[in-house]
Amino acid sequence: MATAEGSHEKSLVTLGVTSAEQLVALFGEARARFDAEACEVRDEAGWKQLRDAWLGRKSGVLTLITDNWLKPATADLKRAVGAGLNELRAHVNAEIEERRAAIEAGAEETTLAKDRVDISLPGVVRPLGSRHLIRQVFQEIEDIFFSIGFSVVEGPEIETPYYNFEALNIPEFHPVRDDMDTFYLDLPKGAPSQLLLRTHTSPMQIRTMEKQKPPVRVIVPGRVYRRDNPDATHSFAFHQVEGLAVDTDITFCDFTGTIEYFVKQFFGPSVKTRFRPSYFPFTEPSVEFDVSCVFCGGSGTTSSGTCGKCKGAGWIELFGAGMVDPAVYGFVGYDPKKVSGFAFGIGIDRLAMLKYGIDDIQVFFQNDARFLKQFP
Ligand code: FA5
Repeated sequence: MATAEGSHEKSLVTLGVTSAEQLVALFGEARARFDAEACEVRDEAGWKQLRDAWLGRKSGVLTLITDNWLKPATADLKRAVGAGLNELRAHVNAEIEERRAAIEAGAEETTLAKDRVDISLPGVVRPLGSRHLIRQVFQEIEDIFFSIGFSVVEGPEIETPYYNFEALNIPEFHPVRDDMDTFYLDLPKGAPSQLLLRTHTSPMQIRTMEKQKPPVRVIVPGRVYRRDNPDATHSFAFHQVEGLAVDTDITFCDFTGTIEYFVKQFFGPSVKTRFRPSYFPFTEPSVEFDVSCVFCGGSGTTSSGTCGKCKGAGWIELFGAGMVDPAVYGFVGYDPKKVSGFAFGIGIDRLAMLKYGIDDIQVFFQNDARFLKQFP
């Protein structure tokens, strides 16, 4: 930088300056030199160089002027040198500060320009999730039962053997427990009761009746568990909707009418229905409820021969149900002579498979987006 070679490196005597007029000219030159250098500053690095060259404590121009001009000045010139130096210092300080502000503002603008968002660019398309088909079917079922006066309750997936079995009239060593073997929790020694993953939503029949006096009209959607080997129609975790209606005057006709209404709403009016005798320890009489096969229209055959879904029967088993066994009322403090009711337990996964033509229950649990996307 030119400053290094400037007059400030020499004493006033060497420069031949002996009067105040000459001093004014000398300071004028120094100021002009500074202004020329300041004009060259474009960025932060240049600004730092200028600042150090003029304000540097050891060898900055102003320090050298102090050392070479002011300190050795004769008594006649000292005051004038001091005044000239103060004026120059004020100018240099002000200008350097102004340059700093200008450079910072420029840098900010550059950053802003870099970060500016171009709102005309196409946006990022994020894939949207949707409700799982099982959730959708739960909702369909809830809507149908809502419309005829049922409400929805939910219960725990971890149950005691009392609610899952005993209070449903399934004592220990009853053979039905073999069909509903499940997963037991590892509990610390001395735990008050065993705990298991519920095998059906029926425990909520007991919990609901314990809490509420008749009339009762509830459905219970939820997840249940069994130690079943997985295949196209079995999973170790699956879903059920329980139904329970208890009042002083509920008959078998109310039961069949309600079930038929539900099935026709769910599958459409052309579906045919039938009841078959069955057995559950907590209903008497008990039935299995069948619908005409939705794949072959109930004929048992398709264009390629025997219908693979109903195996030629023309009927598909849908769920178990029946009139609540009077023994169950004994567990909840209801008087079996005064109340009657019906209950049912629908396997939701198989119901969804039937309605939506799905031939493997496992797809519900695999989280494959190609499957899920088909049911937005
Ligand atoms: C019961 O679970 C009874 N609690 C139903 C009931 C309720 C009867 C109220 C009477 C009164 P079941 O074991 O049949 O019944 O199971 C009901 C439905 O769950 C079956 O029809 C079937 O659709 C479904 N299901 C049973 N096991 C599995 C499994 N491993 N995977 C998928 N679905 C299953």
